[in-house]
Amino acid sequence: MYRIESKIDTLSEEFKKNKEDYLHLLNQYKKILREIKKGGSPHAIEKHKERGKLLVRERIDLLIDANTPFMELSPLASYNQYDNQFPSAGIVTGIGVIHGRETIIIANDATVKGGTYIKESIKKHIRAQEVAMENHLPCVYLVDSGGVFLPEQANVFPDKYHFGRFFFNQAQMSAMGLPQISIVMGSCTAGGAYVPAMSDETIIVKNQGTIFIGGPPLVKAATGEVVTAEELGGADVHTAISGVSDHFAVNDVHAIQICRNIFETLKFKEKTNLEILEPEEPFYDPEELYGIAPIDLKKPVDSREIIARMVDGSKFHEFKARYAPTLVTGFAHIMGFPVGIIANNGVLFSETALKGAHFVELCTSRNTPILFLQNITGFIVGKQYEHGGIARDGAKFVHAVANANVPKFTVVFGGSFGAGNYAMAGRAFDPRFLFMWPNAKISVMGGEQAANVLITVKEDQLKAKGQTLSGEERDKLYQSIIKNYDDEGSAYFSTSRLWDDGIIDPVNTRKMIAMGIATSLNKKYTDTKYGVFRM
Ligand code: COA
Repeated sequence: MYRIESKIDTLSEEFKKNKEDYLHLLNQYKKILREIKKGGSPHAIEKHKERGKLLVRERIDLLIDANTPFMELSPLASYNQYDNQFPSAGIVTGIGVIHGRETIIIANDATVKGGTYIKESIKKHIRAQEVAMENHLPCVYLVDSGGVFLPEQANVFPDKYHFGRFFFNQAQMSAMGLPQISIVMGSCTAGGAYVPAMSDETIIVKNQGTIFIGGPPLVKAATGEVVTAEELGGADVHTAISGVSDHFAVNDVHAIQICRNIFETLKFKEKTNLEILEPEEPFYDPEELYGIAPIDLKKPVDSREIIARMVDGSKFHEFKARYAPTLVTGFAHIMGFPVGIIANNGVLFSETALKGAHFVELCTSRNTPILFLQNITGFIVGKQYEHGGIARDGAKFVHAVANANVPKFTVVFGGSFGAGNYAMAGRAFDPRFLFMWPNAKISVMGGEQAANVLITVKEDQLKAKGQTLSGEERDKLYQSIIKNYDDEGSAYFSTSRLWDDGIIDPVNTRKMIAMGIATSLNKKYTDTKYGVFRM
């Protein structure tokens, strides 16, 4: 493979200015992340510690193998919603390595409203189970939760992908042969009691963990029986009397050790084998991405410059380099793992879509994971292109991406607008992971286009009634639409609602994708079967 020849002048004013602006964005993001990772209020944290409990991220640190990273998913879930009372939506999820085995960890943060569930906590929990199923991973639940956050019950309880889905998934995961271990480190009430009860093995911590279908107040109200939480469903009860739990732990550290011991007894399943090379750092420094990543989305960026700072040795075997240049396709390695890359380099035309579909076929026939690098304003519009059948050709690309059965990974490094988002493996297309850079933007179209479309519609309506918009009204409408799109299009808005798996530092992209591919190897890649491509 040849090394990409960068054309970026890292000494230019443009590069320096972009880097300065980017670092400002990045530091803002890191500051928010640091705050969020503290968890609940200082008072709640103090109360938690006084009870002899470890904080949620301390628990995870102890659970995973020493000196291995924890790939946390969606840490900014629910950010800027609910008056910011739910840092990380009160639940920490991600992939950690336990006894050498990639494992999904789902851990309640009891310092955040007693670890109760709002809409975003539910989405995180279900998304983590989905990751376990897609990649065939074992799952550890660190349970410390008051169940549903009752004021939000309508957004949390009844629907298909609400609280009940946890248990449906647990049953399905169990049938798939995915080991599930629960450590009950705090409250585990009502429906929540099924998390440990449906696990393969359950550990409960003395004087801390409780499991019951109805807590003491409910029991009193329903039957008049007066009972303490410990008598009703504490560690002693469940390990000696009810058998709901299998292992008695004296504290958090002991419980985590028991869980690690259980992992020593698990059987490893068959894995996918890829030809993995010795990892190599990119020839071009990944930190140069700060000087290149598009902050102003109107400025075109050659996506080869992004790829050069992401892949091993900056080496890239480009496919159809001279054809349909607004989509860059080719093969490379990331930390030794082979990957096919599809990166936007402008608007999608008919021939671009065909090139994309062809390249997806190459990747699936070679069993190679695909990395989509999104910076896309959408498909080309206009009479000439509609007459040329852009919708027909775009559909082929969308078909190919949807049915490609190799693991797909998506990183939005710029804009993600319109149907381009779909063709480039947006969230609806089940990429194994989807990450945003802090500068990334996502919406059905750009704010200016949306404002112009809506104003045209409005003016047409008024014209039919013989009215017009005044210049001032037009201006006001325009500005309000732009502002709305700016707010709703930001990476923070997206990540708060789990439209992605998290915002990441561009420099870490390599690491995240490599971890994603390593994780995907736990499940055999299945063959791809395409449907009907309209010709
Ligand atoms: N819904 C809404 N809010 C809840 C809640 C619930 N189910 N459970 C706890 N909270 C809130 C509390 O109001 C409190 O809010 P605040 O910080 O604004 O004051 C916060 O969470 C912490 O609760 P607190 O009781 O002070 O903490 P704790 O650590 O002593 O106890 C629980 C935590 C979860 C054990 C306890 O609050 C409890 O038993 N909750 C009810 C659980 C239940 O019956 N759930 C059934 C729903 S399916």
